[in-house]
Amino acid sequence: MVAKLDSSAREGWSSRSAFILAAIGSAVGLGNLVRFPAEAGANGGGAFVLFYILCIVLIGLPVLLSETLIGRHGQAAAPESYRKLAQESGASKHWEMVASLGVFSAFLVLSFYCVLGGWVLYYIGLFLSDLATTGVSGVAFDGMSFEQVDALFPAMIGNGVITSITNLVFLFVTLIFVARGISGGIEKVAVYLMPTFFILLVGLTIYSMIGGAMDQTVAYLFTFEPEKLTGEVMLAAVGQAFFSLSLGVAGMVTYGAYVGRDVNLAGTSAIIAGADSAVALIAGLCIFPIVFAAGLAPNGGLGLMFQTLPHAFQEIPFGSVIGLAFFIMVAFAALTSSVALMEVPSAWVIDRFKLARPVAVVLVTLGAAVLGTLSALSTGILSGFHPLGFLPMFEGQGVLDTLDTFTSKLTMPICALATAVFVGWIAERRLVDAENGLEGGLHKFWLFLVRWFCPIALFLILLGGILPQQMSELFALIGG
Ligand code: PHE
Repeated sequence: MVAKLDSSAREGWSSRSAFILAAIGSAVGLGNLVRFPAEAGANGGGAFVLFYILCIVLIGLPVLLSETLIGRHGQAAAPESYRKLAQESGASKHWEMVASLGVFSAFLVLSFYCVLGGWVLYYIGLFLSDLATTGVSGVAFDGMSFEQVDALFPAMIGNGVITSITNLVFLFVTLIFVARGISGGIEKVAVYLMPTFFILLVGLTIYSMIGGAMDQTVAYLFTFEPEKLTGEVMLAAVGQAFFSLSLGVAGMVTYGAYVGRDVNLAGTSAIIAGADSAVALIAGLCIFPIVFAAGLAPNGGLGLMFQTLPHAFQEIPFGSVIGLAFFIMVAFAALTSSVALMEVPSAWVIDRFKLARPVAVVLVTLGAAVLGTLSALSTGILSGFHPLGFLPMFEGQGVLDTLDTFTSKLTMPICALATAVFVGWIAERRLVDAENGLEGGLHKFWLFLVRWFCPIALFLILLGGILPQQMSELFALIGG
């Protein structure tokens, strides 16, 4: 089924499945493979995971549908799409500022995302050279001590030359695909890389489940301990849900603008959210058994992917090849996401300044390269520079962590909150209903979620996360 756009002036996805793969490609990325296990580890396992799943279903999915429907209705770059729906509903055109905040956030995320992508490239290089010496059947980093393998990570992130160059390489690869446009480039990455990614993920997970510590993993990920569910953990979970579904950065609005009219947006959104959460959980089931089986602790943070896992690959047969396959898989997933992140500001520059796509994409890349270099250096020579360190939320954070916290814990939830209010209350029902593809009870439920549940829940979670102290005092007061 080919779903060409109505307006022939704008290009679009060549088919519904191309859109689904590209949207899943955007959603599935470092967020699922690196950030999810790291946040789960740092925020106490089960409590975080279960709250995260709730956030995906009750907040993420309704907002995802809201974003795609705004995009398809507008058929333009995100701010233009918000403005169009607002004006046709008789509301202020300033609603476009929600999308502008999103576009800006996408740019910020792009700038640090490619730094992480660069780290992954470096590890691919490490495993490749390891494989050349060890041979296919060997364990990874044979003959190296635990401490030596551990030291690879700080040595990499502390070396500004390595992090800056790998960042630029990753940005450049992203640029090549985005410059070729929707069906010529962005769609191609997704259509080739996503199926390969799934095969690698399933293969590695089966390997890990057979040889690894499954019981411990399940207990770790799914034991719910309510006392661990603090305001900060909730905000971390909701931020992770948005980051993972690519929400709150106008990304799904941008991708939705290229979707044909015959695509049912509700059904497609459910597929995207389902696939994304499945990958996050499978990634947990893939990573933790290897970690536990090697007798290691699932410490949170980035050390999990870049230190604990390589240790684990030192312990298991074929560790060298498995390690290489693992990091290649991560790079594929990261690329389909960085492409989406670059498309958001690029589409805006194309629409706003009427520039040719390649020119717009190069401009966005240059901007991201400059800001990204600051992030790339923030784990090394600039580690003492904490731009927003005077605020408790950003205390002790360098440029990279500051941008991550700023987007996932502030701008993404705020943008999503405003989007829910916009679609639930401001936009005209008739226009919204013409896009959403929902009927009957499900339609009512979705409307309840975007009108009431999402805004209120997001507001409380934002408050609870930003002002944990004040909120818990308030709850104590209410509870007597
Ligand atoms: N969802 C992506 C991930 O999980 C990151 C991303 C965020 C991509 C926002 C596009 C837009 O890695």
